[in-house]
Amino acid sequence: MNLGVNIDHIAVLREARRINDPDPLMALAICAQNGADQITIHLREDRRHINDDDALKIIKSSPLPVNLECSIDEKIIDIICDLKPFRATLVPEKREEVTTEGGLDLFSNSKRLKNAVNKLQANGIEVSLFIDPTLKSIEESKKLGVEFVELHTGSFANIFAMLNTSLSHSSHSIKELELSKDELKKLLEQSLEHIKTSSIKAKELGLNVAAGHGLNYQNIKLITPIKEICELNIGQSIIARSVFTGLANAVKEIKELCKR
Ligand code: PXP
Repeated sequence: MNLGVNIDHIAVLREARRINDPDPLMALAICAQNGADQITIHLREDRRHINDDDALKIIKSSPLPVNLECSIDEKIIDIICDLKPFRATLVPEKREEVTTEGGLDLFSNSKRLKNAVNKLQANGIEVSLFIDPTLKSIEESKKLGVEFVELHTGSFANIFAMLNTSLSHSSHSIKELELSKDELKKLLEQSLEHIKTSSIKAKELGLNVAAGHGLNYQNIKLITPIKEICELNIGQSIIARSVFTGLANAVKEIKELCKR
């Protein structure tokens, strides 16, 4: 299973001080040498971490293909068309969110979405849609003519964390419900089932399937057996671990866990 390392979190650290250290560019060779197959970055409308200069330099000098996440805002799409990454992953974006909290709404924005997809593809850029794992989203993605979908695993990851760790997950809507272990186990099974059935459907329709958000060194073991998923995009947990073990070890270890 391919590994995309999301290096936004290095820029998050840099922006905490608004200086030029740590530089996300320095991660490229380390990721490539330690088993990553792809670099993922998100050029947000508010440029809160990766900025235009980072994106340009990363795309120019990355030894690995760059998957550039972005919103469907027309100005951003034009920038992406100029940057020409290997792939663009269209994601929803809200200014107030801490991170991308759910999949794209494919239904209320379909015209703008279709325009974005067409423009990117006309510029030779492969397109992926970051979507919730539902059959409706898969079918709609197929209609939009994209090559890839990335299934949002945030809900699965949050339930896994509630069941197995004492981590707090502020974005989780079921946090307040005080569910029992058995109820959480059932929810985890259901969320995994949604990811599986969506992956199977996507593959049947000829779409390539990636997954990402909230994946880490523990919960990944439930995702890797899903053979229809060919790629995982992982950021937070890798960069968090690298604080203690170094980036090379953190990438090597997660790549080992991607093997099935
Ligand atoms: N994939 C997409 C489309 C994302 O937006 C993100 C979060 O930036 C990730 C993967 C990685 O998520 P995490 O940082 O939780 O591993």
